[in-house]
Amino acid sequence: MSTLHDHAATIMRRSDELAAFTTVEGQITRPYGTSALLDARDQLAAWMGEADMSTHVDNVGNLFGRYEADTQSIDPKTFLVGGHFDSVVDAGRYDGTLGILTGIAVVQHLNETGRRFPFAIEVAAFADEEGNRFHTSFLGSSPVAGLWDPAWVTLEDDAGTPLKEAIRALGGDPEAIGSDTIDSGSVLGFIEVHIEQGPVLQDRNLPVAAVSSITGSLRATIEFAGMAGHAGTVPMALRRDALAGAAELVLAVEAVGASETDLVATVGTLECSPGASNVIPGHAHLTLDLRHPDSTIRERAYAGVRAQAEAIAERRSLDLDWTDSPSFAETVCDARLTKTLREAIAGEGIEPLSLFSGAGHDAITMANICPVTMLFVRCRDGISHNPAESIDEVDVEAALRVLERFLFAVAGQR
Ligand code: GLV
Ligand code: MN
Ligand code: MN
Repeated sequence: MSTLHDHAATIMRRSDELAAFTTVEGQITRPYGTSALLDARDQLAAWMGEADMSTHVDNVGNLFGRYEADTQSIDPKTFLVGGHFDSVVDAGRYDGTLGILTGIAVVQHLNETGRRFPFAIEVAAFADEEGNRFHTSFLGSSPVAGLWDPAWVTLEDDAGTPLKEAIRALGGDPEAIGSDTIDSGSVLGFIEVHIEQGPVLQDRNLPVAAVSSITGSLRATIEFAGMAGHAGTVPMALRRDALAGAAELVLAVEAVGASETDLVATVGTLECSPGASNVIPGHAHLTLDLRHPDSTIRERAYAGVRAQAEAIAERRSLDLDWTDSPSFAETVCDARLTKTLREAIAGEGIEPLSLFSGAGHDAITMANICPVTMLFVRCRDGISHNPAESIDEVDVEAALRVLERFLFAVAGQR
């Protein structure tokens, strides 16, 4: 029988094993709908099986491992514990996967010690949270939470591959996704263990903290079209340089982000074509990600960026194509569950801090069907969305202890 101390070591090892599932050698790049994602899912399913969970996959490609309730409970409800196993481009190894691996570890520990609750535990492994490939948010958890938009099946990635094809590559039926919503009456709650992705826990010398609320975000894909031409012969005054227009917008976005406390705004991708040193760029394509916990401020800032894009296009005689991407609203974690989580943290002798999350998480969508909370785990220097992401095994052990104690407390309340 393994202790939670042993399970923390297993999680560190499994995080390394999952990191090997990538579409780009030498990186961790695991977008939705790829064979790397499928292989990672098979590995997760195998580990769930070892923890005595039955597994199933839904149409968008999420994997669920179910650990049944005790035999005395008739028609038991479910408590969901989870995370995501897609990644950003050149990612770290803990963002998302930690929530799945901690869920599996706690279930395995419960199984090894012969304990079950009056509710089933399902470990949810979401197939897409980052949304990099199709410029979405929470593609995996949206159908689960009843927030699937049927119009999304017409989305294409930057290479023109339809989302439908990516769904089928994971074995799903695009037309059936809308029917995968979990009945909200059957779910008691959702918790995700996630790296903090910020420096506060390191500063405070604490291993874990509860999450009080999660920011909201607005996103767009933006295209400037001008006129490609000869870099040596077209006079500067006659140019319609799409990249120069995009560059102006990048700086405008930075200024908007810096204009207000808690506002952040990022251009994370910028591409120009045709892309040659002696050709004036005829097209420029960029993405905007803008976040603030207050929707009024967020929407005002977003409208401000759009107005600046229009003004740049007008002044430079460029055509502007602005497309709103799926966005997400700010979400407050459930007060009762989060109190229970803080008590579990204190029960482990750790100061029970609550943190705000500037990153988006599946708890945002899951809040549509059940109470949600999150446990943040300290990460080195707050670095995330970067291969240098790093956590300590002792902090993972603390997270496992808190998570198990939390589930016992939820069971005790029933
Ligand atoms: C997910 O990591 C996000 O906050 O975009
Ligand atoms: Mn992320
Ligand atoms: Mn994440």
